Amino acid sequence: MSKVELYKRLHAQLKELLEGERDLIASAANFAALIYHGLPEVNWAGFYFIKEGQLVLGPFQGKTACTRIELGRGVCGTAAQRRQTVIAADVAKFPGHIACDGASRSEIVVPLIEAGELFGVLDLDSPTPARFDANDQAGLEEMAATFVQGTDRTTPES
Ligand code: SME
Repeated sequence: MSKVELYKRLHAQLKELLEGERDLIASAANFAALIYHGLPEVNWAGFYFIKEGQLVLGPFQGKTACTRIELGRGVCGTAAQRRQTVIAADVAKFPGHIACDGASRSEIVVPLIEAGELFGVLDLDSPTPARFDANDQAGLEEMAATFVQGTDRTTPES
């Protein structure tokens, strides 16, 4: 199956998961599980959400990860600061990359933006170098947009 076809299927599944459920954490958890199990060669998939000016770990699948990332730091912090998707073909060459799972070789981070405001990032790691390309970016950005539209900006403490 082509990447385009795979993302089409995953996107349809995401829409089903979001139906009748607008809770951010519940749907982020299901979204992370969907892409972790649905995409090949992915060893970490999950979320960081903006809290107190930092990126704080949210629902994910994979090995334990660092809990807080400063904006501008690593691949996640860079994507958050630029408000643009960042692809690190070789994480070892990415300035300030934060190594959570030592097996990770490449990474893609998609910012989550609603009404011009950044509220988090979607992060995927792969043990394969240069795993993520423009098709992954397009597929994940489309799914992220559906996720943003289909969830509410409330967290457990609000
Ligand atoms: N590698 C990321 C940190 C998060 S983990 O990959 C889950 C980064 O450099 O921002």
